[in-house]
Amino acid sequence: MKRAKRTPVDAAKAVDAVRVVAAARAVEPRGGGDTGTLPETAPRLPRPRGPVSGSLFERLARAPHDLGPIAVPSGGPALYDEDLQVALYACYELHYQGFDGVDERWEWHPSLLRARELLERRFEQGLSAAVRRPPPVPARELPRALADLAAEDDDGPTLADHLRHHAGPAQFREFVVHRSIYHLKEADPHTWGIPRLRGPAKAALVEIQADEYGGGRCERMHAELFRATMRGLGLSDAYGAYVDRVPAITLAVNNAMSLFGLHRRHRGALLGHLAALEMTSSLPNAKYGRGLRRLGADAMTARFYDEHVQADAVHEQIAGHDMCGAFAAAHPSLAGDVLYGAACCLALDRLFALHLLGRWEAGASSLRDGGPA
Ligand SMILES: [Fe+2]
Repeated sequence: MKRAKRTPVDAAKAVDAVRVVAAARAVEPRGGGDTGTLPETAPRLPRPRGPVSGSLFERLARAPHDLGPIAVPSGGPALYDEDLQVALYACYELHYQGFDGVDERWEWHPSLLRARELLERRFEQGLSAAVRRPPPVPARELPRALADLAAEDDDGPTLADHLRHHAGPAQFREFVVHRSIYHLKEADPHTWGIPRLRGPAKAALVEIQADEYGGGRCERMHAELFRATMRGLGLSDAYGAYVDRVPAITLAVNNAMSLFGLHRRHRGALLGHLAALEMTSSLPNAKYGRGLRRLGADAMTARFYDEHVQADAVHEQIAGHDMCGAFAAAHPSLAGDVLYGAACCLALDRLFALHLLGRWEAGASSLRDGGPA
C-alpha cells in the first residue's frame, strides 16, 4: 500500500504541532509511575547456539583474559547463522546493559574486540550480499531518494496487515517477543551517533531521540511504553528475557543497528537506518494498535503503537530532511552510505517479516524451540 504524499507545508505544520505538544508536556507535573524505582538486574548470558558462541560465553563468564584465536562461524548465509548472530549480539550487549556474572572490563578488552571484529567482518559480508547498494545521489536529492526507497518498501510482505486483521493473541505475542529485543532498548543504538555529528544534523538527531526518551519523562520513554505493552500481553518485561527465543534474523536486525552505531565509519549508514525506520513506521504502527484492540487489548497495552503513529510521521520529516539532508550537505561523499543504511534497514525488516509470515503460514511458531511465547 502506498502512503499518502505529504506536502512540505503539511509536514511543517505537523512538526510545529508536535513541538507545541512536547513543550506542554515539559511543564506537566512529573508522575512517578512504577518505573525506575526497582533494583536493576543485568540479563544473563544467552544460551550458546554453536561452537563459537559456546566457547565465547564460557570464556566471558571468567575474568577478562586473552581469548586467543577464535574460529568464525562459516557455512550458510550470515544473516541466518544462529551461532554468529548470538555471539555478535552478546559482544554488542557488553556496551548496553551487560550481563549478570560477566566482568564489565570485557567491554573494552582488546582480545574481545579482536574477536568481535572477525564476527563483524562476516556479518558485513552477509549484509552486502543480501542488500543491494542503491546508486549514489547528489546530497540535495538524498531526502527524495530516501522517501523513494521507503515507498518501494510498501510493496513488501504485509506483516502489519496480518497483525491488523488476522493474527490471534499467540501470534501477536510472538511478534512482540521478537520486537522486544529492540524496543526494550529503543533508540539506544542510534544515540551512539550523536557525538559523531555536528551542526544541524546533530540537532535533528537529538530532537528525534529526545522524543524516543520521553522528553525526559521516564514513564513516556518508548522503551517503558513497550514494557507496558508486554505486561498487558502477559509477557515478561525484563530486559533480554526472550533473547533465547528469537532466531538469527531477529538478532541480525538488532546487530545491524549496533554495528552502524558503534563504528564512526558507519555514521552515514546509521542515519539512513534511522530515517528508514521512521519513514516506514507510522502506518504499520497504526495497524498494530488496531490489531491489538481487535484482540481486546486495553489502552495502556496499545499506547506504545498509538504514540508512534503521530510521532513517527513527524520524525520522518526531521530524519529525511533535517538530519540526513543536512548530513549529506556537510559530507556529500557519504550520501551513498546513508542510502545503504536505509536499504539495510528495509531489507532486514523484509526478511524478518518473511520469516514470521512463512512460519505462521506453515502453522508453526516463529520462535525458536517452537512453543508459544
Ligand atoms: Fe519510538
